[in-house]
Amino acid sequence: MNGDLLVQGGTVVLPTGPERLAIAIQDGRIQALGLDARLSEAGEIIDATGLWVLPGLIDMHVHFRDPGLTHKEDFDSGTQAALAGGVTTVCDMPNTVPPVTAASAFFEKLEAIAPKARCDFALWAGGGRTEDFPSLAAAGAIGIKVYQTRSTAKGAAYFEELFIDDDETLLAVLESAAACGLPVALHADNFALAQRERDRLKREGRRDLRALDLLRRIPATTEGMVKALLFAHHAKAHLHVAHISLSAPECVDWVREAKTKGHRVTAECPPVWLTLEDLDRVGPYGLPFALPREEIDVYWRALADGSIDALATDHAPHTAEEKNPGWEDVWQAPTGYPAVELLLSLAVTKMREGLFGERELVRMTAEAPARILGLYPRKGTIQLGADADLTLVDLQQSREVRSEELRSRAGWSPFEGMRLRGWPVMTILRGRVVMREGEILGRPGFGQLVAPLGRAVEVRDSKEQREASAAPKSR
Ligand code: NCD
Ligand code: ZN
Repeated sequence: MNGDLLVQGGTVVLPTGPERLAIAIQDGRIQALGLDARLSEAGEIIDATGLWVLPGLIDMHVHFRDPGLTHKEDFDSGTQAALAGGVTTVCDMPNTVPPVTAASAFFEKLEAIAPKARCDFALWAGGGRTEDFPSLAAAGAIGIKVYQTRSTAKGAAYFEELFIDDDETLLAVLESAAACGLPVALHADNFALAQRERDRLKREGRRDLRALDLLRRIPATTEGMVKALLFAHHAKAHLHVAHISLSAPECVDWVREAKTKGHRVTAECPPVWLTLEDLDRVGPYGLPFALPREEIDVYWRALADGSIDALATDHAPHTAEEKNPGWEDVWQAPTGYPAVELLLSLAVTKMREGLFGERELVRMTAEAPARILGLYPRKGTIQLGADADLTLVDLQQSREVRSEELRSRAGWSPFEGMRLRGWPVMTILRGRVVMREGEILGRPGFGQLVAPLGRAVEVRDSKEQREASAAPKSR
């Protein structure tokens, strides 16, 4: 049958742990798992001897800048970076132009990006227009993003329509999202308190790169997050805390505590790595995820024990021209950096330090995001009937990061020159080999919109969509 594949000889990481198994793929799905290499009469056999076979990674937080800011990234360059990094599904944030706050903007975005997408994708929506949530959900939005922050830095992609800092709107958003079955992702902050602290630091003459970290020392993000936790519990909503490492470490304790009480709260964290000392070297390119050394450990430990559910990069490219003023004045630089292509290698390199094992790696990079987004078990796991999204990893491969080899349009990386151990050598999406030894084989338009299972998705009968074969109907 067309596109059938047999992946054999590799160590497959199942939900129960690693096993030597062959995977038979038919019609884009996992058809059989077994010791017998003659599982099916496959058209193509992939020899995975010496490699690890993981469920394709899901990066639940990326900014691919399409439409509107495509000089920073577009869905073609972004999804190429994803496939090169072993990521088979990305979830794009709504701060594109126009911001995705209504179904019309959702469809406009879908028409712009579907023909370019080389990996599967989901789309977050946002804003305070709760009357639009039912049609956004019907269109296939994966959830609602709330920004309790904004920025005046040139190039910063924060939009007034997505900014929510009054209690009434926050509660209404949580209630409406819950009624539509959508999770709410939170960029936590208390904007007024943060602004006060920024002004104070500026008056003191602080313009250095480390000054940004001082904003985490005041109770602004903690207040924003705890308020949202309270409101979400009241609204019976699922609150998902985005990039929890932007907040004070005490936020991890609040999330842990809320989980103990059985509240519907989840959290994600980027693969934190850079220290405040590293900022002296990488400058504004390392903002905003450079941390005091001892705090980096806090987040990885919480990821290892499941207090933080998912690793998500917050891939947020900006141009070098936008970033460079930050060398002189931290407040002038937009925050964010590209990272989707390095998610897996960073996570494997950290795993090899011994803090967690293969099962945890798979949980934080695939299974947890799929569960949070309602995509499990079609995505995020290697089991019968699941989409055949697989990443083959060479644990022995050790390489330095070279930004000129990365696919992101940004053209720079704060991880430049860093040696990482464990690189993806093949990416398979719905049974098709879409990346082999760094070569992108997945075509633009092969990527499909994915929406939570069990939710009917409205399909607009547009020519572009048919041509792109995005066919989101059954997804
Ligand atoms: C993001 C961006 O640039 O879009 N910035 C960032 O620092 N990651 C917005 C955001 O998620 O905060
Ligand atoms: Zn983000």
